[in-house]
Amino acid sequence: MILEKYLSKKGQFLENNVDLSAGTIAWGLKAKKRAKENPDFINATTGTATEDDGKLMVLPTLFDELRQLTGDQLLAYANMRGQYAFVQAWKRDTLESYPVGMRKKTEELSTLPVTACGGLTGGLMLTGQVFFDLGDKLLAPNSRWGNVDNVFFKNQQLEEIPYQLVDQEGNLSLTDLNEKLISLQKTEKKIGVYLNFPNNPSGISPTLDQVKELQKTLESITIPTILLLDDAYENYCYENDVVNHSIFPYLVGLNENVLAVKIDGASKRYCAYGARLGAITVGFGLEKDEDEKAQIRELMAKSARTNTSSAPRGIQEAITNVLIDPKKNDNIQKEKARNLKVLSSRYKLIKKLGEETTDNILKPVKFNSGFFGYYLIKSQQPATEISSNLLEKGLGTVPFVNTSNGLNGIRVAFCSISEENIPKAFEILYST
Ligand SMILES: Cc1ncc(COP(=O)(O)O)c(C=O)c1O
Repeated sequence: MILEKYLSKKGQFLENNVDLSAGTIAWGLKAKKRAKENPDFINATTGTATEDDGKLMVLPTLFDELRQLTGDQLLAYANMRGQYAFVQAWKRDTLESYPVGMRKKTEELSTLPVTACGGLTGGLMLTGQVFFDLGDKLLAPNSRWGNVDNVFFKNQQLEEIPYQLVDQEGNLSLTDLNEKLISLQKTEKKIGVYLNFPNNPSGISPTLDQVKELQKTLESITIPTILLLDDAYENYCYENDVVNHSIFPYLVGLNENVLAVKIDGASKRYCAYGARLGAITVGFGLEKDEDEKAQIRELMAKSARTNTSSAPRGIQEAITNVLIDPKKNDNIQKEKARNLKVLSSRYKLIKKLGEETTDNILKPVKFNSGFFGYYLIKSQQPATEISSNLLEKGLGTVPFVNTSNGLNGIRVAFCSISEENIPKAFEILYST
C-alpha cells in the first residue's frame, strides 16, 4: 500500500480486509462481460428487480415526481433527522404494511417516526456505532449478505458468533439462534443479533410459528440484547404460510432487555437503489413516553450528523409528495403490486422447476420470498467452481459460501431475469 505510513490502523485494516465486491459484484462483472460477448447469456447475478427486457423496474409515479422537483427540493440541505414530512409519511407507509391489529402497539413501542439515513447500509453502520464497541459480540446467520461482514466485522470489528439459519436440508431454522441466545446470556453482558428476512442470499422468510419461537426466547432474555433487523426486502413474499411483512411488530414489547432496531429504506421498497435513502426505527421492550422516544431519535440523528450529516434530500421530497397525495399514493401502490406480481410469477416458475427435478447435485433451499433462489451443493465441490462452470455454459450466478457453518451454495437472482429465460437458466443450472 503506497500510503501505508500515513494510514491509521483502521485504514490499514480496511485496505487489507474489506471486500468491495461484498462477494457479489465481482461475479456480476464477470457475467456482464460474458453477456456482452454472447447475446444468449443469462445474467442472474444482479440483486435489483428488472423488467423482462433487462431495464430496471422503476415506479413511474416516483420517477415523474423526481423529474418535477425544484432546485431547492433537490439541492438544499436536508434535516439531519430526515425531512419532517418525509419521516411522518414513511411512518404511515411502514405502519400500513403491518396487519391492522399490530399497528397501534408497534407505534406505541417504537420511535416512529423514523430517522433518515444513507441507504440501509448507512442505517446498519449508524446503528452499529450507537450500540456496539469494538470486540462486542454479534450473532450473525450462516446465510447472509456479504456487506454485513464489511460493516460489522471489518469496519466496526465486532466479534462474530455464527448461528445456523439455513440447515443442510435447506430449511429455515431459528433453533440454533434460540439456543445460542439462551446460553450466551450466562457469559455475556450484552449481545447483538443480525436478522434479515426475506433473507439474502437464501430467499427465506420465517413462518409465524418460527417467529413465535423466537419471541419466547426473547421474553426470557436477561441481558441487554439488540436485534438489528435488516428489512431490505420486506413485503416481497410469495407464499401464504410466511410472515409477509417485517417481523418488527413481533419483536417489540417482549422484554425490557430487548431492543429491536428496524432498518429499512427506499432501495427495494420503492425500487430506488441508488437514491441512498434508508430509515431507522428503534423498538422497545417496554413503553416509553414521548420525551424518551425523542431522546432516542436525537441520538440516532447525532450518529447520522457525525457520519454523513444527512440523508439525500431529493428522494425524501419525491417520496413524501407521492405518499401524501392520495391519488399518487394509490398509483404507486398499484405499480408496486404489479411488480410483485411479475416477481411472484418468476418465483413460481423457478420453484416449480426445482421441485420437479431431484436427481442432481443441487438442492434448492425452501425459498419463499425476496429476490433470490438459493441452491445448496450436495457434493464437496466448492460453489465458486460451479459458478465458474456455469459462466462458461451461459449463466451468471453468485456463489455464497460460509465455511464456518457448512453453507455451500449458489444464488440465482430471479429478480433480474425474464420469465421466458427461467427454463433455460434452470436447464443450465441443473446441467452442473
Ligand atoms: C440484505 C440486504 N441489506 C441491505 C442491502 C443494501 O441496501 P442499501 O442499498 O439501501 O444500502 C442489501 C442490498 O443488496 C441487502 O441485500
